[in-house]
Amino acid sequence: MTTMRPAPGRHARNDWASMPPLLRFLNACHADFGADHDGEVASYIPELSKANGEHFGISLATLDGHVYEVGDSRVPFTIQSISKAFVFALALDTLGAEQVESAIGVEPSGDPFNSIRLDAKNHPFNPMVNAGAIAVSGLIRQAKGDAAFETIRAALSRFAGRELDMDEAVFASESATGDRNRAIGYLLRNSGVIKDDVRAVLEVYFRQCSVLVTARDIAIMAATLANRGTNPVTREQVMTPYAISRTLSVMTSSGMYDYAGEWIYRVGIPAKSGVGGGILAALPARLGLGSYSPKLDGHGNSVRGIKVCKALSAHYDLHMLNRSDDARNSVMADYTIASSASRRSRRPRERKILADHHHDVRVMELVGTLSFSNVDYVSRQLIGKARPQFIIFDLRRVTAITPAGSRLLIEGFRELAAFNVTVVFSGIDRASTQWQNIRDWTKGLSNIRNYPLLDDAIEWAEDQIIYRNGGDIYAVEMTELAEQPLLAGLSPQELDLLASHGSIKTYSPGETIISAGEAASSLFFLKSGVVHVKLPGGFRLATITAGMAFGEMALLESERSADVTADAAVTALEVPLADFERFRKSHPATGERIMRNLAQLLAERLITANTKLNLLAAP
Ligand code: DON
Repeated sequence: MTTMRPAPGRHARNDWASMPPLLRFLNACHADFGADHDGEVASYIPELSKANGEHFGISLATLDGHVYEVGDSRVPFTIQSISKAFVFALALDTLGAEQVESAIGVEPSGDPFNSIRLDAKNHPFNPMVNAGAIAVSGLIRQAKGDAAFETIRAALSRFAGRELDMDEAVFASESATGDRNRAIGYLLRNSGVIKDDVRAVLEVYFRQCSVLVTARDIAIMAATLANRGTNPVTREQVMTPYAISRTLSVMTSSGMYDYAGEWIYRVGIPAKSGVGGGILAALPARLGLGSYSPKLDGHGNSVRGIKVCKALSAHYDLHMLNRSDDARNSVMADYTIASSASRRSRRPRERKILADHHHDVRVMELVGTLSFSNVDYVSRQLIGKARPQFIIFDLRRVTAITPAGSRLLIEGFRELAAFNVTVVFSGIDRASTQWQNIRDWTKGLSNIRNYPLLDDAIEWAEDQIIYRNGGDIYAVEMTELAEQPLLAGLSPQELDLLASHGSIKTYSPGETIISAGEAASSLFFLKSGVVHVKLPGGFRLATITAGMAFGEMALLESERSADVTADAAVTALEVPLADFERFRKSHPATGERIMRNLAQLLAERLITANTKLNLLAAP
C-alpha cells in the first residue's frame, strides 16, 4: 500500500480527524488498485459488455450503521450471482429449512459457477452455483407463482435498505443468450428438483440477476449478513439468524466457486461475487464490504474487488479464523458490601449485622458483551468463593448478551436457585430484548429480582440480611441525640443544652425539608423516620435513617447543594445555625468536639468514595 499516510498539509482546527483511518485505507486501496487494468468485462451476456471497465467503487458498512464510500460507490450495476446468497436466505425463511435443504446440497462442487453437473443424488451441489440458485428460484416460484420475482426484489431491497429496481436490458440480453442456464433448468426438472415450468423459473432467475445495486448497497447488504440479519442502517430484522448463518456457511465453502478453498484460506471472509463486477464480503460481527469494478478474472471474479478484500483482510488481520478473546474482561468489579455498601445510613446494630454477614451480599459489575466465554468465566468466579445469599449483577455497562451468554446465564441462575441464592439484576433496560429473553427463560424461578439502580439493589439485599438476622429496617422508633455520631462524646448536659437551642419538627412522607440552592441556615438531627438526599439531577447521594444528622454541611457551606425529602414520617430536631454558633461560642470545647466529629464523618465518606473508585479501577 503506497498511499496509507495522510497527506501532509494544514487542516482547519476542527478538521484534524475528518478522515477516519479506515476511510483513508479504502482511499489508498482505490488509488493503488485503480491502477490495475487487468481482466475482462463479462461479455457472454452481451449487454454486460457495455459496462465501463474503469469504474471502481468501494464501500464498507459497519455494524453500527456507518457507511464508508470511495470512488464509484453509487454507480449502479447488476447484482448477478450475489443475488444467490440472499435468495437462498429468503427460501430458508419463507419455505422452511427442511424443504430447501432436502432439494439443494451444501457441498462445494469445485466447479465453475455455470457447471452442468449434479451430485450423486441428482441434486445441485450447493445454492451458490447456477444449478443450486436456479433450483432455489424454482422453489420460490413454486410457492409464490407470478409474485416470485416481486418477493425476491422486495427481500433484496430490505437487505439494501432501499427499493431496488431491475435492469430490463440486461434481463432481456441474458434471457436471449441463457441457453446454458436453460439446460441446467431442464436437467433439474428431469431429476425432480424443479417441478414448475422451466421457462418461468428461468425468468425469475434472470430477473433476480438483473437487479440493480451499487457498491454502497452491497456493503449494507453484506453488513446485514454480518449482523445476524438485522440491517444496521434501517435496524430492520430482514431474515432470521438461522437463514443468515447458513447462507454465510455456503458462502464460506462455495461463494467463490472453484476459487472458494483458496479464498477462505487466504482471505478468510465469507464472500460472493457476480459477473456484473460486484463482490460482497461479510465478516460476521464486524463489517460488510461492497466493491464494484467490472473487469473479471478467469473465475468470473472482479480483479480489483479481490485485491480490496485481500488487502483489507491482510492489513487489519481480519481472517475470521484468526481470533481470540479475553474472557476476563467483562468483570469490572467484584466485591462484597464490606468494600462498598449502599448509600443508606445504618444504625450501629444494623451496621454490625451487615459487617458480620458481608459475604452474603456479593456484587459483580459487568461490562461489554456477555459472550459464552465471559459468562462461563463469571460463573467460575462465583463458585470459587464463599456462597452468598444474594448475588447482584450490575449490567448497566453491558452492551449485549449473546444467545450463548444468555443460555449460560440462565443455567447459572438455576444452579444458584438450587442453593437458595437470590440473583438481583441492576441497570438493565426492562424494554430490551435481552431482558425479555432473561425473563422468558427464567419463568418459574423465584430467585430473580430486578432493580433499575445498583444502589437500590444493594440496599434491598442489605435490608434482607438485616431482617433475617433480627435487625430493624423500618426505623420507626425514636432515637436519642446521644446516638448521633456527630454528637459523640458529648455529656448528657451538653446534649440537653444543644437540644434547648433547637425545635422538634415533623414532616410527612414526600415532603421537602431542604432544597438545593437555598441558604444553609440550620442543621437537622433525625430522631425517627428516613430521608433521601438527592442532587438536583435526581442522583441519590444517600438515604439517612433515624439517629443520623443531615444538613450538617451547613457548618461548612453557606448554600444547600442537594435536596432532602422525607421518605417516611419524619421527626427531627432542627437547630438554627445562628443558635448553634452561639452555643459553640459559649462552649468552645464542645463546639470543637462536634467539628472534630464532622471531620471524622467526612473522612469516612472520603474513604468510602475512594474504596468505590479503587474497586472499579482494579485490574
Ligand atoms: O447465471 C449467470 O450466468 C449470471 N446471471 C450470473 C452469473 C454470475 O454472476 C457468476 N458469478 N461470478
